This record gives sequence, structure tokens and C-alpha cells, in this order.
Amino acid sequence: MLSVLKHPLADHIITHLRDETTKPATFRSLAYQLTTMLAIEATRDLATEEKTVKTPLEMTQGRVLSVQPIVVVAILRAGVSMVQPFLDVFPDVSVGYVGLERDHVTAVARNYYCKLPPLEGRRVFVVDPMLATGGSASQALEVVKRNGAAAPGLVCIVAAPEGVEEIHKHHPGTAIHVGVLDRGLNSRRYILPGLGDFGDRLYGT
Ligand code: PRP
Ligand code: URA
Repeated sequence: MLSVLKHPLADHIITHLRDETTKPATFRSLAYQLTTMLAIEATRDLATEEKTVKTPLEMTQGRVLSVQPIVVVAILRAGVSMVQPFLDVFPDVSVGYVGLERDHVTAVARNYYCKLPPLEGRRVFVVDPMLATGGSASQALEVVKRNGAAAPGLVCIVAAPEGVEEIHKHHPGTAIHVGVLDRGLNSRRYILPGLGDFGDRLYGT
């Protein structure tokens, strides 16, 4: 399942993220805002339960989130930028990290780090702003499944059709939430029109 954000604010943010003149501080803040929108969209199906509260005027019935801890697993390094919005929006989030780095020539990702909280029985989201070939996200989904995640979701800011296809092929049924679906990859497996190297744009490297 692929879901693409449809909101004028998302279009606005993505256009500024693409703009090569956008400086790292603004880039980080825009990435935060867009991830907040994605976090809300990706969790539409969270379970809720009834709760009775008293307003200053009368008793009323409402709904609150059922206890269902969320785990966000960020792919280093760029995925780190997507953790805080989840922490700020939801009351009970733990965080894991999977270190993956694409080889500059082959674009194949190498796994160099892994630190995960318990995943069994938890709602797990792998977060990485860029889904290009899909190699990194596919490896991360593999890792979290091996460690007990039942149906991890994937949340990205920009995706290429090639990456979406790769995830559907290796992880059928994965819910993928993206800010925008771009045209495709260039010969160096960068997303077009894309926004360049997300990690470099974030950290000014
Ligand atoms: C980028 C990005 C993804 C990956 C996407 O990370 O943050 O993790 O590339 O490409 P793929 O879909 O083809 O695997 P990169 O490997 O450049 O590492 P970095 O975050 O440390 O810059
Ligand atoms: N990683 C990025 O940061 N950008 C791309 O376009 C592809 C992979």
C-alpha cells in the first residue's frame, strides 16, 4: 500500500526542501514539519478507546489512544531528522537505529550499526527521508522483522517508483507513507527531481 500526502502545506514544504538555496537550518525545520504531517497520516489506524471526561460545563464521552507503544526505527544518518516529530506527537514512543550507508559507486547499502528496543507487539515505523533504489529501506525492514516487528510501516519524505517497487517485491503488504512520489532515478541512483543528498542538506556536509 502506498499513500502520498495530499495537502497544500506538504506541496509548499517539499518545494522549499527541493530548492538548492534552502539553508540547513531551514531545511531541518521543514523536514520536521513534513514528518509531523507524515506521522499523523501514518497512524490514522491507531486504536482508540472511550473515555468520559468532565468539561467545565458537563460530562462528555470522548476517545483516547489505547495503550499501544510505537517504535520508530531511524535509518542513519538522515532518518534521525524524522525521530523528533514522532516523539513530540505521540505519548509513548521508543527509538531504534539501523546504520546503513550506500556505496557511492554501486548504491548498495552497507549495514554498520543496529540498536533496537523490543519490537514484539509494538507498532513499528521505519523512517528514512529518501527511498531511492529501496535497498536501504528493504534491509532495515528485514532487520526489524527479524527482531520481532510484525507488520512494520515505512515513512519517507521523497520516494522514487523504483524504491516503492523494491519494497513491494521484498516486503509485500508494507504500508508506505511518503510526502511525494518523484519521477525516477538518474544513472547514479539519485532521485529526480529529488532534493539531492538529504543527509548533506541536513547537516551541511
Ligand atoms: C541515503 C538516504 C537513504 C538511502 C536511500 O542515505 O538517507 O538511507 O540513501 O537510498 P536507497 O533507497 O538507494 O538505498 P546514505 O546511504 O546516503 O547515507 P547517509 O544518510 O549517511 O547520508
Ligand atoms: N539518497 C539521498 O539522500 N538522495 C537521493 O536522491 C538518493 C539517495
